[in-house]
Amino acid sequence: MDLKTVLTLVAVVLAAIPSVPMDATGAHKEFDVLAIFAFGDSLGDAGTNSFIPQASARADFLPCGKTFFRKPTGRFTNCRTVVDFTAQKLDLPLTPPFLKPHASFTKGVNFASGGRGLLDSTSADDFSVRMSTQVQQFASAKATLEKQLGAHSAGILTFKSIVLFTSGSNGHRVRRWSAGCSPLARASNTAKQGECVEVANQLALGFNAALKQLVDGLRAALPRFNLVLANSFDTVSAMITDGKSFGLDNVTAACCGAGFLNAKVQCGKPDFCRRPFKSLFWDVLHPTEHVNWILLNVLFTCDATAAYPINSRALARL
Ligand SMILES: *[C@@H]1O[C@H](CO)[C@@H](O)[C@H](O)[C@H]1NC(C)=O
Repeated sequence: MDLKTVLTLVAVVLAAIPSVPMDATGAHKEFDVLAIFAFGDSLGDAGTNSFIPQASARADFLPCGKTFFRKPTGRFTNCRTVVDFTAQKLDLPLTPPFLKPHASFTKGVNFASGGRGLLDSTSADDFSVRMSTQVQQFASAKATLEKQLGAHSAGILTFKSIVLFTSGSNGHRVRRWSAGCSPLARASNTAKQGECVEVANQLALGFNAALKQLVDGLRAALPRFNLVLANSFDTVSAMITDGKSFGLDNVTAACCGAGFLNAKVQCGKPDFCRRPFKSLFWDVLHPTEHVNWILLNVLFTCDATAAYPINSRALARL
């Protein structure tokens, strides 16, 4: 479902250990999170697909990465993702892709892979890493950590971790519903050129309602786990309605690309997109870094409408 809700994020904390967090100097830390494990699709991908030669969904070219990393990193934005900002918010290093050779997993790992749908059957890129494979990779990363740190420390690490799950850019293979208010959807709206595709937005709302039920069910079934469903649909809708109040000048076109709404020629030339901080969309589907930053902050501070049932800040403090 490549919709404006492309930004549904599900954050899960594996377990909560009530304690007063202290850092090495004995000072209190705001958050007691030791690691981040990120799963999902291109919204969270930190370069996974760059290590898969056959993957068609990729972003290992300029100008992706231009703003922060100053080189291509394989992220589907210009540059930090919501996962990256979460790490920075929690004073953790950015989580390396699992597939990156010689990466250290001691502060977390990123398994997210662009083109990956929620289900194995709903993916746009057959070579991206399946959700089921991402889970196997987690098991393998955990085994590596146990070898490196010992079972006890590795256990504490995973208990005090945040699991982030990004989903939204490829939920459905059904292209004709391709969706919502993304530049891709608007440009392919044959009925009303340039307008949002409403049926897709309705689908997105239904999908999000179903996710909420899923979270309720899982919370009841797994009382030791803290699950949070963070939904950016409302925030992105507000941006589309009134971009100015978020400092955005353009909420319809891709920043990087060319042709109608910059949606006809794929992002890929360094001189595409001069003012990414003024644009909602980086490419035809994905938000700019600036918007990821806004979304992360909403996620951390918002009320229950955007993060359900508690926000990430409260989650990280548990
Ligand atoms: C947004 O950018 C596109 C592509 O450059 C342009 O066609 C459109 O008019 C812009 N919209 C606004 C409101 O500036």
